[in-house]
Amino acid sequence: MTDLMPLLPEVEAFLKGPLSLRIGGGTVDTDGTIEVIDPSFGSPLCNVAGAGAREVDLAVTAARAAYEGPWSAMTPDERSQCIWRLAELVDERAGIFGQLDALDNGKPFAVARDVDAAYSARHLRYFAGWPSKIEGATIPVSVPDRFNYTRIEPVGVCGLIAPWNYPLLMAVWKIAPALAAGNAIVMKPAEQTPLSALYLADLALEAGFPEGVLNVIPGIGTEAGAALAAHPGVGKIGFTGSTATGRRIVEASMGNLKKVSLELGGKAANILFADADLEKAVPGAFWALFGNNGQSCTAGARLYVQRPVFEQVLEGLVALASQVSVGPGMAETAHDLGPVISERQMRTVTGYIDSGVSEGAECVAGGGRLGDTGYFVAPTILTGVTDDMRVAREEIFGPVLCVLPFDDEAEVIGRANDTEYGLAAGLWTQDVTRARTLAERLKAGTIWINCWGETDAASPFGGMKQSGYGREMGADAIALYSQTKSVWVV
Ligand code: NAI
Ligand code: MG
Repeated sequence: MTDLMPLLPEVEAFLKGPLSLRIGGGTVDTDGTIEVIDPSFGSPLCNVAGAGAREVDLAVTAARAAYEGPWSAMTPDERSQCIWRLAELVDERAGIFGQLDALDNGKPFAVARDVDAAYSARHLRYFAGWPSKIEGATIPVSVPDRFNYTRIEPVGVCGLIAPWNYPLLMAVWKIAPALAAGNAIVMKPAEQTPLSALYLADLALEAGFPEGVLNVIPGIGTEAGAALAAHPGVGKIGFTGSTATGRRIVEASMGNLKKVSLELGGKAANILFADADLEKAVPGAFWALFGNNGQSCTAGARLYVQRPVFEQVLEGLVALASQVSVGPGMAETAHDLGPVISERQMRTVTGYIDSGVSEGAECVAGGGRLGDTGYFVAPTILTGVTDDMRVAREEIFGPVLCVLPFDDEAEVIGRANDTEYGLAAGLWTQDVTRARTLAERLKAGTIWINCWGETDAASPFGGMKQSGYGREMGADAIALYSQTKSVWVV
């Protein structure tokens, strides 16, 4: 038995509840409850209230009242201070957030605290500076005797729908710019991982946000999520999740033509040239996929390795896979990786491994479920993969790396771009001219050269093709949650 760390008293108290919806500064109970599972053990952790269409409506009404009332009445400086204080509270309570995300997501506590919570605080701090810097323009129009200027205004009420892979961080990626742009929010966390977002709603009140500015309503995607996406009182949906659900959200948005931004799936190509610094490139390419247990939209899932170094790289990857430690998120002694999110996801991922093998791939590390408690999948490496196999084309979203050889640049760029996705791609090479030209030719929203996975609140992030549209982070994210008004004056 692995020793588990004790729950922090604040976490214990929070889990005792009420784990109700956070609407309008208060709590709302529902008939619908969601059982939250601890994926490290496959056992029930707690029940949270689940929103239905009625509660979505309540939350939108509360957000509208806050938007039209106290939130819009605050000065940019006052709004900045609220966001900054929330950042400070997230930093201060990083251990609490770390435990909450470790419990319902399964990721290692130290990662949840030092990556997810720490980056969430940084993200909030970056956007805290924005409210006083959202400037319109004076436009040199050619109409005589007219003065024209623009105002950058909030959309109003934004519905934000988050996934379960980085529960707090993905919520904050959307909440921070939406607040900075002056909107009020209805946030629906993923049904698997509602805890950290609920706790964040409580902190927002402590940070001084008016009641109703940040409403958090856990709920099932096809119920609460669908109702939010269709709600006529919502002006904008910000979504991260699967491409299939992204399509449904666009359909649901048609009623009132709400704005939509989508961060969807990926099948990133990671290209490792023979001239790369292998000491860095091999672990870099390994963690590009296995980081967060492969449960990242940017996971470097297709590793193309130039033939002269193929065997050497593969050996290095297999050695790393054998050293990785896997265990419960709350283990007293930290592990590298936790379980995958759910029994369903475990079956999906092991199903992909089986499909790869039955199509002719060879499994050189891992190969299936680990143990019989919790939803653990062994870090798995497949070779003998061809570009047309399902494992090479579809998003697996788990710890499965496909390693494919290539010969030359022209060939690999064609193969890398031959995907419906376009979120991220990477290159490992010491040839700066090649790096620069391939960075132009790769069709993806983020390119990493001799590194992987870096993001920063100041740098735009988002997808091309079916990885979605809209760019989160930086000035682009402010634009995503704003609308421009043109004013003419005589
Ligand atoms: P999903 O895309 O269905 O869920 C993401 C969020 O959307 C959750 O909050 C969910 O409740 C909500 N949702 C689901 N159906 C909805 C609907 N009809 N209207 C509005 N909101 C809805 O993803 P799911 O089912 O959890 O995982 C399936 C696959 O999606 C994964 O295996 C993975 O390939 C991909 N995925 C990608 C993510 C990314 O970061 N790009 C994150 C999560 C999943
Ligand atoms: Mg789904």
